Amino acid sequence: MKMKVTCIPGDGIGPEIVAEARKVLDKVCSEFGHEIEYKDVLMGGCSIDATGVPLTDEAIEDCKSADAVLMGSIGGNTSTSPWYKLEPSLRPEAGLLKLRKSLNLFANLRPAYLYPELKDACPLKESTSEKGFDMLIMRELTGGLYFGKRSTEERNGEMVAVDTLEYKESEIRRIAIKAFDVAMKRRKSVISVDKANVLDSSRLWRKVVEEVKKDYPEVSLEHMLVDNCAMQLVKDPSQFDVVLTENMFGDILSDEASMITGSIGMLPSASLNDTKFGLYEPSHGSAPDIAGQDIANPIATVLSAAMMLRYTFDLDKEADSIEEAVRKVLEEGYRTTDLVLKGQEKDFTLVGCSRMGDLLAERIINCKN
Ligand code: IPM
Ligand code: MG
Repeated sequence: MKMKVTCIPGDGIGPEIVAEARKVLDKVCSEFGHEIEYKDVLMGGCSIDATGVPLTDEAIEDCKSADAVLMGSIGGNTSTSPWYKLEPSLRPEAGLLKLRKSLNLFANLRPAYLYPELKDACPLKESTSEKGFDMLIMRELTGGLYFGKRSTEERNGEMVAVDTLEYKESEIRRIAIKAFDVAMKRRKSVISVDKANVLDSSRLWRKVVEEVKKDYPEVSLEHMLVDNCAMQLVKDPSQFDVVLTENMFGDILSDEASMITGSIGMLPSASLNDTKFGLYEPSHGSAPDIAGQDIANPIATVLSAAMMLRYTFDLDKEADSIEEAVRKVLEEGYRTTDLVLKGQEKDFTLVGCSRMGDLLAERIINCKN
């Protein structure tokens, strides 16, 4: 197959982790006889430095004209970087939000799975982590608080800031359908997370999710308040299969879910619209503090590349080969530093970002060959 992939390496560790994902993809191509035509575009701080804006119209076009986008991460240190002295619409994150909106990427899939090999790195009690967990957070990505009207103004001698949280029925319905569809391919359980005891938007969310559920008699549905969900994630993550939630709750809960997998460096994501097109990126940020040191964990980006092969290109065997390579590398005891607790270093072979990429690429095999 010939694939057209636009890469957004971005800022911080972004370029390093995308380079490793490409290494792995190149090996997949040579093993399985595919070809990827890449194009690199700027987004985030690097785009601000080069063009004055976090995302140019040409960059959006370069993403639209590809089959898929593979991204690293964007942004810098929000306290020290000059990018955060700019007005909000010119900051790095505004580029990512604009791209998601321009491409209508309303469905964000964030799987959180505890590899048995990483049980020791899981910060939860052993009695909890030994049960393992395998959940998928379905986060609404183009509505809610991050896209509502906002303002900061002076009123009666003091500053007042307003953010609005708005959801249309149609926006809730389409993400709920995605959640139930994916639940049908998993353990057939959806937990929908909201704050219906306080928010109108959550009450509408619940109503629409109930309506969508009627078309999926085989799937069980439970509603959970977001504060309780935050607690349940650390109490018993094994209870979750598909977690359906709105934009900001999904942003927060997915960071929490990633941490209990052992490291935020393990969590991939896919952002999809109603076509086969997708944007694939790790759920973690640009980690400017460790950028350029070859110590970042590239696994979340490599697994995002696997999601790209699966969801955009329907290349399941190829995606499996990447996931299998990750399992093998962990089983063989290789770890980036984020995956090792203090004091346990001698039990593992510590490797850098680039070496981890090499190890993963070496383990990509086409069983038919
Ligand atoms: C994420 C990030 C982004 C978000 C930021 C960088 C705008 O935290 O993808 O989770 O909040 O969506
Ligand atoms: Mg986030």
